[in-house]
Amino acid sequence: MIKNDLLLRAARGEQTERTPVWLMRQAGRILPEYRALRARLSGFKELVETPELAAEVTIQPVDALDVDAAIIFSDILVVPDAMGLTYEMVEARGPLFPETIRSAADVRKLRVTDPEEGLGYVLEAIRVTKRALNGRVPLIGFAGAPWTILAYMVEGHGSKTFSKARRMLYAEPALAHQLLEKITATTIAYLQAQVQAGANLIQVFDSWAGILPPNHYREFSTRYIAQICAALPNVPVTVFAKGAFFALEDFAQLDCQTIGLDWNQDPRTARTIIGDNHTLQGNLDPCALYGSPEQVQAATIEMLRHFGPQRHIANLGHGVYPDTDPASVRVFIDTVKEFSALAREGQI
Ligand code: CP3
Repeated sequence: MIKNDLLLRAARGEQTERTPVWLMRQAGRILPEYRALRARLSGFKELVETPELAAEVTIQPVDALDVDAAIIFSDILVVPDAMGLTYEMVEARGPLFPETIRSAADVRKLRVTDPEEGLGYVLEAIRVTKRALNGRVPLIGFAGAPWTILAYMVEGHGSKTFSKARRMLYAEPALAHQLLEKITATTIAYLQAQVQAGANLIQVFDSWAGILPPNHYREFSTRYIAQICAALPNVPVTVFAKGAFFALEDFAQLDCQTIGLDWNQDPRTARTIIGDNHTLQGNLDPCALYGSPEQVQAATIEMLRHFGPQRHIANLGHGVYPDTDPASVRVFIDTVKEFSALAREGQI
């Protein structure tokens, strides 16, 4: 039994007393308690791969910020790691794959991993977190979309253009599909195992959606996201594809409950295109949290007005930036809670 199930009800399109709220990257460097724990460890990977510590960090924002959901502390790059392509997290720089995927032989060498074997530490972190949460709020599980994972596996690191990855789609489309199929098979088994371990909602992050042209996005990304959605019939699924404004018509056909919007999108336009069968999530600009408390409150209220009271999960339009003042995050969260409850009662 989950005591605060606002997130799940909003995802399913049920009426809610107020709008639920959580933040992408809520567990992490904005919280001093995260930085303190992280400083005692050898690095990011030790934190991700130690279930008790990952669970502790997952719950920190529930205690500190009073959000309506926890999201399991992990990373999208654990999937390529389990498939045989090891990543490193370089301090202050980000992820790095010392080896990348270049050829058919490289793709053949990758494993479609059994989740308990290759990703058992994430599943155990979910189980530990669920026990510790004791039904306070739902737990979100997640994975990267196959296209975004391919982008890192081929490029080897973050990039403005991801031109090696995009080159593969033009020069070697069959190879790209072989790779995407392997990633998708691994991701489906992994997400199903997350649900079995206790995840109450799944979010798929397509962080590099916005760098593809619409025809490539449909062929190399939406198609595989649709397979993932279809493989998770018993749990609400959220698809967050950053920069994919051009894909909203296709997303309206997806067998998922929620579509995440980044801050470039107008919620009213998105609602017109998506229709009424999906919940929308988002989409305050993370930079809005650098304003004064009054400014944060005003921006949050404007966002809530644009989404309207039902079928909305409040969030930022992407992950919270690490140098954001947690007090500003609290203003955002409290404003969502207070304003959306009053709006339901017709008081404003
Ligand atoms: O609270 C949460 O949202 C859960 C934690 C979470 C992390 N990564 C922890 C993390 C989630 C959901 C992710 C997903 C993720 N990882 C994405 C998709 C979301 C997005 O931002 O678009 C992507 C693209 C990655 C890959 C990744 N991991 C990058 C590019 C970086 C470096 C950038 C950065 O923020 O430092 C990471 C590292 C990372 N993942 C950190 C955290 C808390 C920082 C590591 C540290 O503590 O030093």
